[in-house]
This record gives sequence, structure tokens and C-alpha cells, in this order.
Amino acid sequence: MQSKQVTVIDHPIVARDLSILRQSDTDTAGFRAAMGRIATILAYFSLKELPLREVTIQTPITKTRGYEIDTDIVVVPILRAGLSLVDAIINFIPDARVGHLGMYRDETTHEPVDYYSNLPGGLENAMTLVVDPMLATGGSADDAIGFLKKQGAKNIRFISLISAPEGLERITKKYPDVSIITAAVDEKLNDDAFIVPGLGDAGDRYFGTS
Ligand code: PRP
Repeated sequence: MQSKQVTVIDHPIVARDLSILRQSDTDTAGFRAAMGRIATILAYFSLKELPLREVTIQTPITKTRGYEIDTDIVVVPILRAGLSLVDAIINFIPDARVGHLGMYRDETTHEPVDYYSNLPGGLENAMTLVVDPMLATGGSADDAIGFLKKQGAKNIRFISLISAPEGLERITKKYPDVSIITAAVDEKLNDDAFIVPGLGDAGDRYFGTS
């Protein structure tokens, strides 16, 4: 799926690293390394439409035109797995502020359960990048985006590694103003609401808790 609202990244490094992440015999170190590389590519594409302002800069030879980023940026990882995508964005935007939303998915109902939130002020004027490697039913993303909008966020982008068609449909229908950047759209959800073929539980694999 490729639309104005959804960007699916097509890149050979992403294809190679997704394969490493999907393989069940990839160990924690290999998983983290592949996630780190893909996170950098996701961050790059997510920041493609950043507004710039022109400034005058001085080279050793002359004055010339230069650019600065013309917006505040807030990164919001959905805990825990979202933490795996934060550093890549901060590497590009060292002064980005980071808000945290803690939620896990109830294993029986598959509904998100909120347990923590800590957001910076000034969301009204910021570009807010919500990060979570897995968009499955879309329940967690729906909750997170709804909450951020209530807190005043206006310019929201959602960044995921792997998305299920079900989650994409839910978020694009409910929030037509939210862009989604993802590295893959998988086939479907299974009866446990896990993405198929997916990579299992991203948080457990990244943190070595499986
Ligand atoms: C996973 C994943 C998303 C959510 C996706 O989190 O990281 O947050 O489930 O599912 P959904 O789209 O159906 O809501 P998990 O509950 O495994 O928590 P964790 O990140 O702490 O491991």
C-alpha cells in the first residue's frame, strides 16, 4: 500500500534487515543492530518534510544561504518497544524532546492498557513523531494518537517498522491527517492478533525478555 497518507519504504537495506529481524534464530545483539539500522532509515524518511527557514551563514570564503529546522520536534515512543526507534531520530535532531506513553496490549482482549504518560508541553506547535515498531490491531496507536490530540498535538506522524493491514486501515480512517511511515505491510493478523508473518513480540526480542 502506498498512498499520500502511508509511506512504505522500499530499500534494499530495509529488505535485508527486516529479514534478519523476522528470523526466529536472530539473537538479541543481532536484533538490536538490525533494528538500529532500519530505525535510521525510518527516521530519515520521517523527517523528509521538515520545514526549514533560511538563514545567512558565513563560510571561510563568503556569506551564503543556509538552513535551520523551523519546528520543534517531539518524539513519543509507545513503551516499551517504541524505545528502539528513539535514538535514530535524536541522532538527526539532537534537541528533540521526548515524551513517553506506557501501554501494553492485554493478551486476552488485545486492547491497550495505559500505565504511564509523561509528555512535554508545547505540542500545539511541534511536529510529533509517535514511534512503535508494531502496528497490529492499531489499538495502541489509536489510543496514543487520540491522547496526543487531546493534549494539543496537531502535526502527528506515526512511525512503525511492520504494519498489519487491519491497523493501517483503522488509523488512516480515524485520523486522515496523520501520516504513517512504515518499513513493511504484512499479510494479516492471526487469532492472537499477532502480525503474520511479522517478527514476534518486538519488545521482548529487543529487550531480551522473551
Ligand atoms: C506491542 C507493540 C505495540 C502493540 C501493537 O506492544 O509494541 O505497542 O503491541 O499492537 P496493537 O496495534 O494491536 O495495539 P506490547 O503489548 O507487546 O508491549 P511492549 O512494547 O511492552 O512489549
